[in-house]
Amino acid sequence: MARRKFVAGNWKMNTTKAQAVDLAKAVAAGAPAGVEAGIAPPFVYLDAVGQAVAGSSVLLGAQDVYFENDGAFTGEISIGMLKDLGVRFILTGHSERRHVIKEPAELVAKKASAVYSKGLILVHCIGEKLEERDANKTFEVCQKQIDELDPALFTDPARLVIAYEPVWAIGTGRTASDAQAQEAHAFIRQYIAKRWNASFADAVRIQYGGSMKPDNAAGLMAQPDVDGGLIGGAALKADSFLGIVRAGAPS
Ligand code: 13P
Repeated sequence: MARRKFVAGNWKMNTTKAQAVDLAKAVAAGAPAGVEAGIAPPFVYLDAVGQAVAGSSVLLGAQDVYFENDGAFTGEISIGMLKDLGVRFILTGHSERRHVIKEPAELVAKKASAVYSKGLILVHCIGEKLEERDANKTFEVCQKQIDELDPALFTDPARLVIAYEPVWAIGTGRTASDAQAQEAHAFIRQYIAKRWNASFADAVRIQYGGSMKPDNAAGLMAQPDVDGGLIGGAALKADSFLGIVRAGAPS
């Protein structure tokens, strides 16, 4: 089945408000047809960025969320609040949340379930650390992180995206080779077929993330199981981000 590529920019903790709005406007103006583009700015700029991309095809995303609906959770942001601002997709399990902020797997799982239950697109990030790859644990780690998702809950493959982001490739300039990415993505799809079923696995999109740039994006996205990208550093400039998005457009 032909899966439409999905390229999303994760801006992380970057930009000023003015930069965020300018970048969003440039992305909205340049996003090509035939490929889905999304941007996930910092929480505090979601409103302004949402207005900047309103009426365009660019999807608004959030980098994180809390799973409860409302209440005494100081500092947290609910899915309802994000929906209010027009957010369409939410990231869970990003390696920086797992490994830098030390978010436990149980919390990641609760967030993922809540995002899906509330009708949004979940972009669930998985991926091994360098020492895990060196110890041949790549598949084991990916499997465990996919196990955070309950197949009985996630029934619509259009609202589930897996972002395979090997930790050693994030922000390091050391991209996975086309073959390394394809090997991991093929494994992930096979494992999803085992836990769900073959047609669900065939429809789920699997993004690659980790030092994806305009000059390596086409090769990565030409791999049969690479359905787009989750872009950090290269998403902070409209030209480089749009270069990657264009590399995902059907030729
Ligand atoms: P870089 O593209 O900067 O390596 O970041 C990838 C990433 O973590 C996207 O979520």
